[in-house]
Amino acid sequence: MAVRQKRSLSEWRSPNVVSRGDKQYSAILEKSIKAAAGDHLARRPAKEDLTHGFHPYAAKMPPALTRVLVRQIEGTILDPFCGSGTTLVEAKRAKREAVGFDINPLSVRLAKIKTTPHSKGFRKTLLDRANRIARAVTSQGREARGTGNRASKRNSDDPESPFSPHVYNELIALQAAINKEKPDIREALLMCLSAIVTKVSKKTSETDRRLVHKSIGRGLPSKLFMQRAIELRDGLHATETSPVVWALQADARKLPLLNNTIDGVITSPPYPGVYDYWRHHQERLALLGYSDRSMRKLEVGSRRDAKRKEDFAKVWKQELTEFVAEMARVTKPGGTIYMVIGDTVIDGAPWIASKESAELDDRLEWLAAAGQKRTLRGAREKQAFAGKPKREWVIALRKKG
Ligand SMILES: C[S@@+](CC[C@H](N)C(=O)[O-])C[C@H]1O[C@@H](n2cnc3c(N)ncnc32)[C@H](O)[C@@H]1O
Repeated sequence: MAVRQKRSLSEWRSPNVVSRGDKQYSAILEKSIKAAAGDHLARRPAKEDLTHGFHPYAAKMPPALTRVLVRQIEGTILDPFCGSGTTLVEAKRAKREAVGFDINPLSVRLAKIKTTPHSKGFRKTLLDRANRIARAVTSQGREARGTGNRASKRNSDDPESPFSPHVYNELIALQAAINKEKPDIREALLMCLSAIVTKVSKKTSETDRRLVHKSIGRGLPSKLFMQRAIELRDGLHATETSPVVWALQADARKLPLLNNTIDGVITSPPYPGVYDYWRHHQERLALLGYSDRSMRKLEVGSRRDAKRKEDFAKVWKQELTEFVAEMARVTKPGGTIYMVIGDTVIDGAPWIASKESAELDDRLEWLAAAGQKRTLRGAREKQAFAGKPKREWVIALRKKG
């Protein structure tokens, strides 16, 4: 069965771009945005898209945009906010060494699976085991229904539970079967299970926790799990060769790297006050046996902080200064830092990402920015931006010296 990748729902669709700064760098940044726009409508087999689409993750960078930037850097690439690993996968495609960090343990495991060399034999076993597990769990469910012997009623009476009882039971049965597998297969299959969690839940979307009615029939979780295993198998083919890529859990403000060791950075930090990444992944983290508490404490720019902290503008400025300083510390003199970041609203006023990053660290010089207009959402944004464009940017900075 050939599974086709879903395209990202991001707004990087329009070829209209504004840019400012150094001409050569403006051209590179514009090209990266236009590449994302051109890629948006394409639907290709998973093999071509590598592992990008197999697991959802909010605010992924568009792979085509990332690909253009990766090609600008010779040597080791860093992504200190690696999320689902887009930079790392593209680094792998371009045969660059790369290292990524994130405070989310799920991100790190996901990015690792997507970039670790896996042989043809491994990929075949992955699919065989997924198939066996999916079939066994589906027929277990059928038998349980036939005998009236339903599995645990846990969750069933809780209207706030994100899962219908039969879905929850099927997820738990899949998890139990996966846990009996050998470690490397287990890890890959757990990521396939993690990939379907939102889809089979009652959550509106990855970023919207409101519960809605979804018709998730018995056996569908197993079927979707199997599809993800096919996507992973197909996407993994490019990881067999090429340089080492690392994904590790760390705070972007305290990277376990020596000074001046990185040739270039490609990253997309959280946009201030927009998302709570720890919250998006609560169900997944629970399924994998993590608490989201430590992640919650370390997350920069979170929506929760924006709502709760009166001095959020100051808090964010401090966080931004710290992680930009850390990128400046580890990047070699002459190395370029590419950052994807969007304008938002802080304290009722527009926060313009391209301006803010210009004067953050005197080891860095601002080279260029290219941006694309974004739809204003909600009264708060409409009021703050009134008549002015809100944009999402790709910014280039260079380490002096
Ligand atoms: C915009 S997302 C990155 C998405 C990624 N570029 C991709 O394509 O999947 C921002 C990421 O920053 C991570 N993050 C938030 N605070 C962090 C911190 N202090 N250190 C490292 N990562 C952090 C979040 O967990 C999230 O994965």
